[in-house]
Amino acid sequence: MTSGFRRPRSTARDLERYAALFAERTKVMKSSAMRDLMALTEREDVISLAGGMPDTSTFPPDSYASLMTSVAADSCARALQYGPTEGLAVIKSCIAEVMRSEGMEIDTDEVLVTTGGQQVIDLVCKTLLDPGDVVVTEAPTYPGAVPTFCAYQADVVQITMDHDGMRTDELETTLDELERDGRRPKFIYTVPTFHNPAGVTLALERRRELVRIAGERELLVLEDNPYGLLRYEGSPLATLRALDGGEFVIYASTFSKILSPGVRLGWAAAPPPVLEKMNIGKQGSDLCSSSISQFFVSAYFESGPWEAYVRSLIEIYRRRRDVMLDSLAEHFPREAQWTHPEGGLFIWAMLPEYIDTTDLLARALEERVAFVPGRAAFLDGRGGSSMRLNFSGVTEELIREGIRRLGEVVREQVDLYGTLTGAAPGAPPARAATRGAAVSQPTRQPAGERPAAVAKVVPLPAKRTRAG
Ligand SMILES: Cc1ncc(COP(=O)(O)O)c(C=O)c1O
Repeated sequence: MTSGFRRPRSTARDLERYAALFAERTKVMKSSAMRDLMALTEREDVISLAGGMPDTSTFPPDSYASLMTSVAADSCARALQYGPTEGLAVIKSCIAEVMRSEGMEIDTDEVLVTTGGQQVIDLVCKTLLDPGDVVVTEAPTYPGAVPTFCAYQADVVQITMDHDGMRTDELETTLDELERDGRRPKFIYTVPTFHNPAGVTLALERRRELVRIAGERELLVLEDNPYGLLRYEGSPLATLRALDGGEFVIYASTFSKILSPGVRLGWAAAPPPVLEKMNIGKQGSDLCSSSISQFFVSAYFESGPWEAYVRSLIEIYRRRRDVMLDSLAEHFPREAQWTHPEGGLFIWAMLPEYIDTTDLLARALEERVAFVPGRAAFLDGRGGSSMRLNFSGVTEELIREGIRRLGEVVREQVDLYGTLTGAAPGAPPARAATRGAAVSQPTRQPAGERPAAVAKVVPLPAKRTRAG
């Protein structure tokens, strides 16, 4: 990334000293764009629409204090102790309850408690991938999975999305092509509900299709579902796990978005042979997840209906989503499009192709507003003119101001392009993208082939090569 906000890193000379010691995989390891942007969220003068953060200020401090007091009174020694790798029984029953609320019955033996949902992605990769193995996922994909796929040297194939989620027709053709090349993907990674970053949801028919495809071809699917319970409109859809009954679906979820990411607790429910290998993988990673956190969550579930807090979050986030959608319509130029999420935490905005959002971020930071550039969600160079916007982590007032600032920066680029090229405005009015519209640009545009762009200056259109 070219944005100049990173903390100072090691110099080339520092790196050279240790270079011979580094594993091969470090050459392809990638830093997480979101983690890099985390530093910004701590800068008070920047309105960060970049995070993926739930608003933890909504959790009552008194409840936190009394829950911790009850953990100290009832389970002090056990909370301060190591626990079993697969997780404590007390929390597994909470997990079963959460899954039941999303229409899934689970045997607690089929559950592995993890250090956040992020660890599930890591453990699935650790368990299934050899260098060069194929992982199929959406385009765009969860930016936090990108460093994990890179660290395990996966060959990631990304499938176009539209407003009904991953295009299962393209998935099938791609799987056929891979099969002709003698390549069988190790798993399909998907966030079917309120996708991060695209904000769209896989339609029921496509869910059935995906489960059918996985079953027929005996392919594992990693269903990552942190947001399913944060629905602001519409009716819940069956999860892939519910549709497949747990034969080929590895299900992942987390307490991060319904309670707190600070507890760092998630889980996987998987076919037993896969779960056993993941358990061994976890032993090598962290022995077990925090016992203190597990007792805290269990005390929280015992203290009253956990759904009440989720309902309060839904009210807050629905309003914030609506404010962001209204502000986008007011401030973004008519050349832009964006998704209308029915839940979750993100809106995905697509700008004209001549705007490079990685470069735009530097300009936006001058105006003290941040977002995640779209390229962070692709491994094939696409996403250059898209951006992820988060509406859960800042107040309604800051969302309005942040989108106003961002709108100005985007308009500046559109106007500049018009002046440089004499292009007449011809795009439809600014709006949420319509059903059926693509969420990812179909053209692959490797980083090396995109025109050099600097902040404040829109590059003149250059001839582009179309590759796939
Ligand atoms: C799709 C997805 N998966 C996994 C995670 C990781 O969450 P955690 O490790 O906090 O459970 C996130 C967090 O934003 C996410 O959006």
